[in-house]
Amino acid sequence: MGKTILDVVNLKKHFLQRRGLFSALRAQERIIPAVDDVSFYLKEHETLGLVGESGSGKTTVGKTILRLTPATSGRISFAGKDITALSAREFRPLRKEMQMIFQDLDAALNPKMRIRAILKEAISVHQDINGAQVDRKMDELLEQVNLKESKLTNFPHELSGGEKRRVGIARALAVGARFLVADEPTSALDVSIQAQVVNLLKDLQKNLGLSYLFISHDLRIVELVSHKVAVMYLGKIVEMGLVNRIAEAPRHPYTHILWSSLVDKESREASGTSSEAPSADWGVFDFERPYHGCRFAPRCPVHQARGRPERCINPSTEPQLHDIAEAHKVACHFPL
Ligand SMILES: Nc1ncnc2c1ncn2[C@@H]1O[C@H](COP(=O)(O)OP(=O)(O)O)[C@@H](O)[C@H]1O
Ligand code: SF4
Ligand SMILES: [Mg+2]
Repeated sequence: MGKTILDVVNLKKHFLQRRGLFSALRAQERIIPAVDDVSFYLKEHETLGLVGESGSGKTTVGKTILRLTPATSGRISFAGKDITALSAREFRPLRKEMQMIFQDLDAALNPKMRIRAILKEAISVHQDINGAQVDRKMDELLEQVNLKESKLTNFPHELSGGEKRRVGIARALAVGARFLVADEPTSALDVSIQAQVVNLLKDLQKNLGLSYLFISHDLRIVELVSHKVAVMYLGKIVEMGLVNRIAEAPRHPYTHILWSSLVDKESREASGTSSEAPSADWGVFDFERPYHGCRFAPRCPVHQARGRPERCINPSTEPQLHDIAEAHKVACHFPL
């Protein structure tokens, strides 16, 4: 078993949202518990897939771990060091080892800089090296991410989506990353290019020993890259375990619904019928809906089938993530 590179304990990130003209009034404020008591760990050379619908808090988990936004509470340890308590200056040497691949293809790529300058800046930012060393590192990076040398003279807008993604990854490697938060890294790309990016990330992991928190709502891709999967629902992890178990034997009703809609979609695609999933009549999905107890209760088929048991909706018995099998945790009173 590899060493633990990232350990997240009871992480919370609550946003204060002010609304309307009279936003100074307390009544107009509300708390959005975007990340609400999340704990998990990641081993070196491993990928943890983080899945869940849009708005469930995935990006906020990634940004908070990397200290791009301050945590409300909780502890984040990287390579055995508690980074939550570090000052910005103390954190700086670790910053280069933890990088984010942003969902937006153009984030981190200055539109006014040529690719060579972007990579050169990243290579030199944390180390004092001479021109020949920079060139050597540049060649190494191009080979690692499989990018043609001719692209170095281009500006970001002259590249395809797949090439921009490669430059983004090269940039993170240039800085010296060994842990990457990859936030929906394939979402804006064509299917064939998605496969290339997935293979690239897997090759880099094998060759360089990288660790990934891989955020995606595309379950097919998550299955391809992840060793373990954590499923988020409204700020909480509701199930976590080895990828095969999560995909094939989910125990939380929400995970079950997520993966069965994937199977439905695949069989519709195979039979040549519409690839659009039928819209689930689940109503509003956000933090507006008041909840008591389990956050999934208003949408949960098991809760409904069991005659709406009090235990699911009692605030004092909110289901907690607990072991249900080896390396498999679930937060549900009536797991499947
Ligand atoms: N800077 C912010 N200010 C206020 N609310 C935010 C902010 N960032 C995210 N949120 C809210 O937090 C919740 C989780 O968002 P996010 O982490 O982006 O989810 P996901 O990545 O799973 O789609 C959403 O309700 C979103 O509106
Ligand atoms: S605790 Fe109850 S409402 Fe929540 S997921 Fe389990 S069965 Fe459904
Ligand atoms: Mg997101």
